[in-house]
Amino acid sequence: MKQIRHLKTMQRWALDSKRTSGKVALVPTMGCLHEGHVSLIKRARKSAGTAGKVIVSIYVNPTQFGANEDFSSYPRDLTRDLNICDREGVDVVFMPSDTSMYPDTTEKEYSTYVIESSLSPKMEGKSRPAHFKGVTTVVCKLFMLTLPDMAVFGAKDYQQAAIIRRMTSNLNIPVKVIIAPTIREKDGLAMSSRNAYLNKEERSQSPILIQTLTEAKGIVRSSPDQSIQTTKIQSILKARIRTKKLAKLDYIAFFDPVTLQPLDKVCKGSHMALAVYFGKTRLIDNIRL
Ligand code: PAJ
Repeated sequence: MKQIRHLKTMQRWALDSKRTSGKVALVPTMGCLHEGHVSLIKRARKSAGTAGKVIVSIYVNPTQFGANEDFSSYPRDLTRDLNICDREGVDVVFMPSDTSMYPDTTEKEYSTYVIESSLSPKMEGKSRPAHFKGVTTVVCKLFMLTLPDMAVFGAKDYQQAAIIRRMTSNLNIPVKVIIAPTIREKDGLAMSSRNAYLNKEERSQSPILIQTLTEAKGIVRSSPDQSIQTTKIQSILKARIRTKKLAKLDYIAFFDPVTLQPLDKVCKGSHMALAVYFGKTRLIDNIRL
């Protein structure tokens, strides 16, 4: 397994492998790998084939964190991550440095960003205003550095995946965006590097996210015509979340799965997402209703 830190080395490898190997599949991550990430790596291998190459990028991207967010405390464990990648048969782990990715944040040298302006301001974008500008910028840079044929993202971050798909299509980037299903703990909590922040009591209450989503799906599927006004289920779902003393709801959203347009009436196939705080830890999850 190759470990590449320098941008030029990465790009040279990518150009060479375009000439000599099969397909290249990229899995962008911020490290602290868990079973969710591993499922994306397996999916990347499946899509690239045995003759193809799998690249995992590990980069905690500063531009997608707000000023009061957890950039400096974000969990990092490179030794463990490298072992996991090696075990999974990854070909290249790309670990760029902040100074090479963003040479001068006073904007003398770094002043170019990618902004998706329609899907980004909704949901997560309301709570985290500059977040998706950082995500689209870094993903675009990672695409240019690794030149993959395809890239795999998790449905756990549904809005992020939809935005990346839109960006790739709008900018005519020749990368196939693959969205893989959410991997969960036994009790249904979506796996996330941030779950490590939860104390014992918060962790025991955290399955409320999937329970609320599943309840909403059940309500929709058992309604006449399998459709219902969102106002009708909002109050039921909010009451359910209030039963968990440590859970503080940030938002519940019902939306079209492609345009992310909010819906007044949901039906089978509509999408629901929610964000819930446990102390300072913010958890997100979503479901197809
Ligand atoms: P990170 O949170 O490390 O997630 C990397 C990828 O793993 C994302 O595509 C995310 O949706 C996926 N993922 C996380 N938890 C998952 C789970 N339980 N099941 C399936 N997939 C899961 O998302 C980011 O990093 C960053 O924003 C990034 C795209 C790397 C840009 O910096």
